[in-house]
Amino acid sequence: MKLGVVIPAAGSGKRFGSTLPKQFQPLNGVPLLVHAIRVFEDSSFNCSVVLAVHPDYKMTVQNMVMRYNLTCVSALVDGGAERSESIDNALCDPSLRSCQLIAVHDAVRPFHTEELLERLVRTAEQFGAAVPCVPLSDTIKVVRNYTVVETVPRTDLRAIQTPQVFNAQLLRSCYESLGELDGSITDDASVLELCGKSVYTVDGLTENIKITTQQDFAFAQFLLHKEDY
Ligand code: C5P
Repeated sequence: MKLGVVIPAAGSGKRFGSTLPKQFQPLNGVPLLVHAIRVFEDSSFNCSVVLAVHPDYKMTVQNMVMRYNLTCVSALVDGGAERSESIDNALCDPSLRSCQLIAVHDAVRPFHTEELLERLVRTAEQFGAAVPCVPLSDTIKVVRNYTVVETVPRTDLRAIQTPQVFNAQLLRSCYESLGELDGSITDDASVLELCGKSVYTVDGLTENIKITTQQDFAFAQFLLHKEDY
């Protein structure tokens, strides 16, 4: 089965506090973006991967794709000012035209697995949209002006990860019908939700962390070497 994959990798990584955007930081000597692509490259799906990158880093990424022999990468497109714009650009790429399902995966999550991908694909084939989720362990409160406004009951709360897998037509039509999106949209399931479409969940992986800060990066290094501890 041919699986379309969109990887938004055009962020500047302001919260990471480094001149090199976090998706290019080496983890065990290999850029995070390459870790993210590798699972698709090595999977039993026939993946066609479109990367959305900032024009300034196009050459860097082209070199990475060659150096790590990432044959599943079918195109590089320009990223946009917001993540949703980067996705929108990638969805238009002709190399995804024949894909019935599209997985969207953040470049800064290096620990997804083929088993998780299979679970998501099976669910998306049946229901049109599937996302991985994990329960929360902290107590969640709404805070304004340094003051607790409300405690949100935790039972129904989940943290949502990527990859998120969608019926390609459904995902495209939702992006098209919403038009220009602002930075408040932080994942693709939200685009479907805004269009009134159902999104199904599967069990995610606690180690499938999103690397946002230097602390996340240190934790990722620990996860890679945890058997040495
Ligand atoms: O900023 P955030 O951590 O939410 O970014 C999630 C993913 O979206 C990252 O892989 C980042 O490179 C990507 N992104 C993008 N275009 C933007 C902003 C973020 O492709 N304008």
